Amino acid sequence: MIFVKISTIVFILFLSFIGFIEAERSYLSPNRKPHWKTDDPNRGPFFGQPEQVHLSYGGDPSKQIITWVTFDDTVDSVVEYGIGKLDLTVRGNASLFVDGGAGKTARLIHRAIITNIEPGRRYFYRVGSEYGWSNIFTFVGLQERLNGGYRFAVYGDMGNINARSLGKIQRLAQDGDFDMILHVGDLAYNLDTSDGTYGDVFMRQIEPAAAYVPYMTVVGNHEYNYNFSHYVNRYTMPDSDHNLFYSFDIGPAHFIGFSTEFYFWTNYGWDQIKNQWNWLIKDLEKASKNRENVPWIVTMGHRPMYCSDFDGDDCTKYESIIRLGLPITHAYGLEKLFYKYGVDLELWAHEHTYERFYPVYNRTVYNGTASDPYRNPPAPVHVVTGNIAFWNPKLKFLQDTTEDSFWLIKDEHKPYDRNDLKQLKKHGYQVPFDYRHPDDTHYNHRSSKL
Ligand SMILES: *[C@@H]1O[C@H](CO)[C@@H](O)[C@H](O)[C@H]1NC(C)=O
Ligand SMILES: *[C@@H]1O[C@H](CO)[C@@H](O)[C@H](O)[C@H]1NC(C)=O
Ligand SMILES: *[C@@H]1O[C@H](CO)[C@@H](O)[C@H](O)[C@H]1NC(C)=O
Ligand SMILES: *[C@@H]1O[C@H](CO)[C@@H](O)[C@H](O)[C@H]1NC(C)=O
Repeated sequence: MIFVKISTIVFILFLSFIGFIEAERSYLSPNRKPHWKTDDPNRGPFFGQPEQVHLSYGGDPSKQIITWVTFDDTVDSVVEYGIGKLDLTVRGNASLFVDGGAGKTARLIHRAIITNIEPGRRYFYRVGSEYGWSNIFTFVGLQERLNGGYRFAVYGDMGNINARSLGKIQRLAQDGDFDMILHVGDLAYNLDTSDGTYGDVFMRQIEPAAAYVPYMTVVGNHEYNYNFSHYVNRYTMPDSDHNLFYSFDIGPAHFIGFSTEFYFWTNYGWDQIKNQWNWLIKDLEKASKNRENVPWIVTMGHRPMYCSDFDGDDCTKYESIIRLGLPITHAYGLEKLFYKYGVDLELWAHEHTYERFYPVYNRTVYNGTASDPYRNPPAPVHVVTGNIAFWNPKLKFLQDTTEDSFWLIKDEHKPYDRNDLKQLKKHGYQVPFDYRHPDDTHYNHRSSKL
């Protein structure tokens, strides 16, 4: 008897240790008995209402993943859906996420996958269980647009306070102006704040966009608390149990989402840098072999390699860690890796600016040709788009609308080679060590905690 008791205690301690240190999901058994289940038939879950409904791309256009939250265990996780009517049903499962904050808030994260989606058809759906249903939302089966391609909204650093672009994003998503949203890190400032209530507010605020088009995410520095567990648990990226690094194909493009944060939050373990590095190589190898079908390779990571503001962040340093790798050893530097596999486009955020770069490699900017530098460039193109404006009194945005538009055109997608390097050297110039963008007059300090 006593022996059993002691081992039970040890077991429970062990479980709760895993629960908030390891950034893992703990899926619940479909045959579980919920804590509220008693002989009293009047007892049900106290909070069975679903909320924070959002879509994510299932890895091919025929699949949508739907994720939502309840604050108590509803046991069942149901999606009712269909074209024009809700005549189909799919069941998913749930994981229990106990927040690392003092309140130890429990959230049930429900996930289900709709398959066999027909391209171009509008689907209706609602989620929940007999203890509560969501509103009815809609999405359109993904397909190439009439004028070609897919449209993405790409941004980082939004937050739930003063999210100036939120209304526009919600409206455009509902109107079908884009097919997918890519949020490149720094989601809610922070998902975990105040026992995760900030995260709940954020997830409710994005629902009017994210319940209509897939909302794809990358982890940022603001997701770092409790070993990124809010990020791991609240979202569902395809073929991944953690969302920290993953990839998917859509149309002619292979997208890779990865964590720049492993390089900076090494208190959670150094091995994550290596794990991700090995995964990146494997994924890039696979994508390289498939370029005939899916020619473009696009990466998404939160902290950029390059930026021309002056706030002291990694990208302002001559030896950026993301670009060149760990100090001294230069292990796991991402610029060389992405160059080696001929990555076409690299999307970043973190700096609260918008910057589109000329093709660049090894701080050599390819700007010097008579023709368009974006036609068959000899190096990847970087775009930093952390301009969504989480409010900070130090930052001043021009109030007129700025539009940027450019075409990146390639006749062939392949690893950059000797000839590319020669072109780059011939027509490029080295960015000097102390370079600073002449327009950066309002962001004038070297230390920032954004
Ligand atoms: C729940 O679903 C996820 C995603 O489909 C899957 O990876 C996981 O194994 C499932 N867990 C259980 C307990 O069924
Ligand atoms: C953080 O989570 C990862 C899994 O995502 C795990 O490998 C690592 O050991 C965890 N770190 C700590 C300090 O618990
Ligand atoms: C990168 O540029 C530096 C400085 O010009 C040069 O010494 C180095 O050889 C270059 N590295 C590569 C891989 O081209
Ligand atoms: C390329 O950049 C250099 C350095 O800023 C500048 O002097 C040169 O005029 C630029 N060339 C073109 C074609 O823009």
